[in-house]
Amino acid sequence: MAMAKSVLSLLAHLHAAVLFLPADPAAGAAMYNVLRYGARPDGAADAAGAFLRAWADACRSTRPATVYVPPGRFLVSSATFTGPCHGHAAVTFAVAGTLVAPAGAGGRGLSGRWITFENMEGLVVSGGTFDGRGRALWACRARGGNCPTPASSLTIANSRDVVVAGVRSVDSELFHVVVLQCVGVTVRGVTVEAPADSPNTDGIHIHMSSHVSVYDARIGTGDDCISVGPGNSHLWIERVACGPGHGISIGSLGKQEGMAVEAVQNVTVKTTWFAGTTNGLRIKTWGGSKRGFVRGVTFADATMSGVDNPIIIDQRYCPSGSGCPGGSSSIRISDVRYVGIRGSSATPVAVNFDCSRSNPCSGIRLQDVALTYRSRPAAAKSYCRNVQGSTLGLVLPPSCL
Ligand SMILES: *[C@@H]1O[C@H](CO)[C@@H](O)[C@H](O)[C@H]1NC(C)=O
Repeated sequence: MAMAKSVLSLLAHLHAAVLFLPADPAAGAAMYNVLRYGARPDGAADAAGAFLRAWADACRSTRPATVYVPPGRFLVSSATFTGPCHGHAAVTFAVAGTLVAPAGAGGRGLSGRWITFENMEGLVVSGGTFDGRGRALWACRARGGNCPTPASSLTIANSRDVVVAGVRSVDSELFHVVVLQCVGVTVRGVTVEAPADSPNTDGIHIHMSSHVSVYDARIGTGDDCISVGPGNSHLWIERVACGPGHGISIGSLGKQEGMAVEAVQNVTVKTTWFAGTTNGLRIKTWGGSKRGFVRGVTFADATMSGVDNPIIIDQRYCPSGSGCPGGSSSIRISDVRYVGIRGSSATPVAVNFDCSRSNPCSGIRLQDVALTYRSRPAAAKSYCRNVQGSTLGLVLPPSCL
């Protein structure tokens, strides 16, 4: 009886949810098709001007407006879509086709960004492929040449209430998707594809932002699948498949010296899969005197498959192996939980806490962790340096906390 009643109340809930589902967002919205502004879907003629004119009209609209990019390939040299828009009406940038960057290295302007949306309140970017064509730039960097400034592919800056949904980003010169100085951004169903050896091609980079959520991302790239830079709080990351790549990273923090404190707090990373990545769940800080903290982080429910460093805190981060500030890090890491982390490590040290001598890690908790090396739990090891914490439930390899 009680069960029947709860089913009924669930049905009532579902019914209510259906009734209140928003109508097709395009319905009733003013449509601005970039073809009408002179864009050509031939992948050759620069459509940036047409895109910007369509944007200007959409942004002036007094009702919700959609800029529509139909199927086809549209060359865009670079474009910055700026708000605020009229009466703060929501603007949607709906892409069915592909935006392609210029073929050579650089050529995307000097700002380090290819496509940017900024100063928006209420923005939806949905669908489509963003092809950053980064190969020429990566090749230049591999040769050690004097290369143009690399550009991130899709940047959302200084905005609030933004949704980025169903976007596919391919071969960015630099980061694929950047959330910079925003409040309230949902990134949903995003796919990132770049080669394992493409330099600094982070999948999603979040910087100086709060209340950012990432759901259902599939990321294979040459650097971090998701990187959480300084100044972030209240982040939620759920259902992310990563590989190839460098894992999901908080940091790196503490690179530049200076006054501002670098802080990251309240981050949840839940239900993730890592396949053949160099790291799984990582916190990284440079050595040196830059002050800051990372606190209130939960890593829950992760599956590792042949990951070099499944769980790692690295407070002596020095990717090039030389020229790093050195000294012990002034970034204080506390209250970090790892719950339900399982699978295989590709190296013997499956759990690595290498914390700062002057600011030891505290409140590090491991719960229900089962990581193996070469299919034998006994072969995997933990490493602890300057760390205090506790364990709960089964923890393999045996903890050194
Ligand atoms: C932590 O962040 C989540 C969003 O990810 C938010 O809902 C929650 O209220 C935050 N908690 C605190 C203590 O601020």
